[in-house]
Amino acid sequence: MEPGSELGLGLVDRPSTLSLSVRDVRPEDAEPIVRILNPIVAARVFSVFDAPFTVEGERGFIARFPARGIFHVAVRQSDQAVVGFQTLEPFATYTRAFDHVGVLGTYVDLDLRRQGVAARLFQATFGAARLKGYEKIFTFVRADNEAALQTYLRQGFRVIGTAHRQARIDGRYVDEVLIERLLDPAPDGN
Ligand SMILES: CC(C)(COP(=O)(O)OP(=O)(O)OC[C@H]1O[C@@H](n2cnc3c(N)ncnc32)[C@H](O)[C@@H]1OP(=O)(O)O)[C@@H](O)C(=O)NCCC(=O)NCCS
Repeated sequence: MEPGSELGLGLVDRPSTLSLSVRDVRPEDAEPIVRILNPIVAARVFSVFDAPFTVEGERGFIARFPARGIFHVAVRQSDQAVVGFQTLEPFATYTRAFDHVGVLGTYVDLDLRRQGVAARLFQATFGAARLKGYEKIFTFVRADNEAALQTYLRQGFRVIGTAHRQARIDGRYVDEVLIERLLDPAPDGN
């Protein structure tokens, strides 16, 4: 097993400059998650979230998170602080036709960007997703969020197209870029 890894998956990106592990979310992670998320919401430039989150609300979100979903947190080894998180949720549940498709969200402490946290999360989530039967990830990035788009492209996503005036934040329309990535087959051949 790789040092600092609970999942024992090899790195696919450059080694993290932080020593990190990735694990499934726990109820007590609600507080650090909100601490990471609310500055991202407040900045108004990264996501389409338009209101701050509460710890109580986030605890409920974690409790109700779908069984087929994946909710990973990245933990800094030196002090066990949660420094980023990633969610993969089923694309839709009104039909079985989309069961192999997941929707992804990635959030890293704004003070700890560009230190390989997201890369570590992607690596863990791709492996776990394949084991849960996902074959592709389909998601959206704000067209003006170049850092996020570059991060996803680096992870093998491709741009499908642009949904124009898809979001309205503070009265201003924002385009969203649709991206997708097929997942490699699971080791057991699924
Ligand atoms: C987008 C985000 C998740 C990236 O997380 P991160 O931990 O900083 O990313 P990493 O350090 O793992 O970067 C991996 C690679 O992605 C690319 N990348 C990341 N940030 C980039 C940037 N600002 N510009 C260009 N490329 C970037 C690079 O190829 C990078 O590798 P390198 O540093 O060796 O060049 C993070 O910036 C973030 O949480 N932003 C705020 C929330 C957000 O925008 N979330 C996405 C919503 S869809």
